[in-house]
Amino acid sequence: MLTNKRILLIIGGGIAAYKTLEVIRRLREQGVSVTSVMTKAAEQFVTPMSVAALAGETVHQALFDLTSEAEMGHIQLSRSADLILVAPATADLMAKMAHGQANDLASTLLLATDTPVMIAPAMNVRMWEHPATQRNIAQLRGDGIRILGPNSGDMACGEFGPGRMVEPAEILEAISTHFGAGVLSGRHAVVTSGPTHEPIDPVRYIANRSSGAQGNAIAAALRDAGASVTFVTGPASVPPPEGVAVVRVETALDMEAAVKNALPADIGVFAAAVADWRVDGTQDQKIKKDGEKIPSISFVENPDILAEVAKSKVQRPALVVGFAAETQNVIENAAKKRMRKGCDWIVANDVSPGTGIMGGVENSVILVTENGTEEWPRLPKQEVAIRLVERIAQHFSETA
Ligand code: C5P
Repeated sequence: MLTNKRILLIIGGGIAAYKTLEVIRRLREQGVSVTSVMTKAAEQFVTPMSVAALAGETVHQALFDLTSEAEMGHIQLSRSADLILVAPATADLMAKMAHGQANDLASTLLLATDTPVMIAPAMNVRMWEHPATQRNIAQLRGDGIRILGPNSGDMACGEFGPGRMVEPAEILEAISTHFGAGVLSGRHAVVTSGPTHEPIDPVRYIANRSSGAQGNAIAAALRDAGASVTFVTGPASVPPPEGVAVVRVETALDMEAAVKNALPADIGVFAAAVADWRVDGTQDQKIKKDGEKIPSISFVENPDILAEVAKSKVQRPALVVGFAAETQNVIENAAKKRMRKGCDWIVANDVSPGTGIMGGVENSVILVTENGTEEWPRLPKQEVAIRLVERIAQHFSETA
C-alpha cells in the first residue's frame, strides 16, 4: 500500500529525533522513499550521516544551499512529496508553522507546500501545556495539519506527563491510514451532518444553530481510518472535508432520501441536527405582508432518519450511532433515546447556552452503549471524532 509513496521528513531538534531513525527504517522497508530535512538543532541529536545512511539519500540542511537550489529548488522540494512528516515537531518549529515564519529550510518548506502535513510533537510537559503552545496547536489543527499525539509518560528531562513523541509504530499506522490502508478500509460509512433548512416560502426558512463541525470531524476521522465515507450534509457553516463523497441536502426529506440512497453501509453516524418539524403547506410564492393579517405557520413531523435506518430490517448498518443534544438530564434522556430509536450507541452532549458547544470548537460527550455510559473529558471536536472512530474500529475488530 505504501510502495512508491514519497515522504518529505523534517526532523526537528529534540531528543525524540533518535526515534525518527526507526521511522525512516520502517518506511523504507515498506517501499517508501524518504527525503530528509534536518533543522540545525536536530543535528545536535542525530547526525546527518545516520539519517542519510538510513534514508539512502543526502540530507537537506540549509536554505541557501546553491547546489541543491540548482538541482531542486526548495519550492519543488516542498511539493514533490505525497506527505510531509515533521518528527519530532518541537515547540519552536510548531510556533513558526503556526505563524507562517520562513527563516530556515524546514519552516520555508512548510510554508511553501501544498502537500498534506502530519506532525509528531515532542517537548517537555510544561512547554506542551503552555497556553502559547496550545494556541499554536489549535491554529495548526485549524489549518488542516494532522497532529499525532503527544503521548503521556516519563520524559527524558525527568518529568512526567504529555509531551513524549508518539512511537514509530504509531507514526507508521497514521501514515498507512493516511494512504488508505487503515483499520476501517473496505468499510462504507454514512455520516449525516449540519442543520436542515425547512422552507416557509421560497425566501424564508426555519433552521437551527448546528455548525456541522462535529459531523465534519467524524467524516474526516472515518476517512483517515480508511473507510469510504458518504457525507450527507445540510447547509453547514463549515466546508465538508476532502476525500469523502459529499451529498448536499437542504431539508429533512432530502436528507432522508440521500441517506437511503447511500445505503447499504457498515457504519451509520447520524450527527445532523435534523429539524423535527417542517412547514405544512410551503408556499410557492413569497408570503406578502399585507398590513393586516399576520400569517400563522403550522407544522408536520419530519421522518426520524436515524430511527428509520436503525429499525430497518433490510439495510441496517452493522453499527448505528446517533447523537443526543440535550439541555437537561443528559444521560437519562440519551439512554431512553438509544432504546426508542433502536440505535447501538448514542453520543450525548449538553448543549445548554453556557456550554459554548453548539457552534463551538470543543465538545464534552457521554457515550451511551449497551454496556452503560462513558463520560469523556471536554475535547476539541476533532479529538472527540478520533476517539469515536477508534471505538468504532475496536467494535469491528471485536465482532470480526
Ligand atoms: O430526537 P433527537 O432529535 O434528539 O435525536 C437526535 C438524533 O436523531 C441525532 O442522531 C439526529 O441526527 C437524529 N435525527 C434524525 N432525524 C430526525 C431527527 C433526529 O436522524 N428527524
